[in-house]
Amino acid sequence: IFPSTLKCKMLKISFVYFLVILARSEFACSCELSLKHPLPLFTKQLGSRKVVFEPQTSSINVLAGESITAYCSGGLVYEKKYDGNEPIFLAKNTADFICDANNVLKIGGVHISNNREIIIFCASQGTYDLYESKKTLPNCEKYMSYAIGVPIDGEKSEVKAGVCFDLDNFTLKYIHFITEPVTDRIVIDEKKKANELSLDLNQKVGGLTDYFPFMSVQKFNATRNELLRSRNLFDIFDFDLDSLLQDESQQTKLNSYAYLFNTLWWRQLRQQNWRHFLEALNERTRVTKYLVYMG
Ligand SMILES: *[C@@H]1O[C@H](CO)[C@@H](O)[C@H](O)[C@H]1NC(C)=O
Ligand SMILES: *[C@@H]1O[C@H](CO)[C@@H](O)[C@H](O)[C@H]1NC(C)=O
Repeated sequence: IFPSTLKCKMLKISFVYFLVILARSEFACSCELSLKHPLPLFTKQLGSRKVVFEPQTSSINVLAGESITAYCSGGLVYEKKYDGNEPIFLAKNTADFICDANNVLKIGGVHISNNREIIIFCASQGTYDLYESKKTLPNCEKYMSYAIGVPIDGEKSEVKAGVCFDLDNFTLKYIHFITEPVTDRIVIDEKKKANELSLDLNQKVGGLTDYFPFMSVQKFNATRNELLRSRNLFDIFDFDLDSLLQDESQQTKLNSYAYLFNTLWWRQLRQQNWRHFLEALNERTRVTKYLVYMG
């Protein structure tokens, strides 16, 4: 078995014909970052553009002479493949992984492994924090615009979701998020392009649960079930306290903010056809007036 550097040099001598195979081959002049959960975010300089992406694959190829930057808010960890898999904790959130001309991986300028392949992941889950946004969500001028996300690199940020919340009346107005595309890699932020959610991570907010009494789904269920049993109050309609965030992968990622996304649903409307929302509301409400925004 040749060391990978030797294999690489031998293949370099071959004709252009073989370069096509080389590009697809295991022995290509590149290094491999295998990924484990929790996954880091990556930034890559592509000419004059810097791209931030969430990897959707189990590994990333870095060509010889190239580098890629990994980011975890709770610190980065790597393991040398085939080398006891002893995790090594980096005391920083950002690291440049460089694949040198000999297919050796380095972090910054420091040699870390003789292997062209290592495994990287984040030290901890829960990379998203709650921020008050200086930019306001549409129709939310009277209320608070919150953003849940993570700052990257000091200059960029990834915003996962926006929340319009009436803090005075303790009411969730609406949430704003982008469903996850099913492409290979999610490009989050490009040069000069404003964040699609038009929010910024201006001021970090501690957990709101410490100061406000958010109701848990368990408690709501228990209360509702008790009422159903004792007073037959909700025998026509059933209500649920559930997340307004209906995208499953987003729900998982933002699970620690579930309390903020929960709202009261009328079960029939939630499970049946939204196109008949206004008709249904009209038919069912004789007393109360509703102001309905759709979009
Ligand atoms: C809070 O609710 C009251 C009564 O419904 C309303 O008059 C007031 O405008 C609300 N506050 C905000 C900030 O919307
Ligand atoms: C609450 O009740 C709803 C409706 O019965 C149910 O679907 C849901 O799983 C319950 N959730 C919890 C946490 O008990």
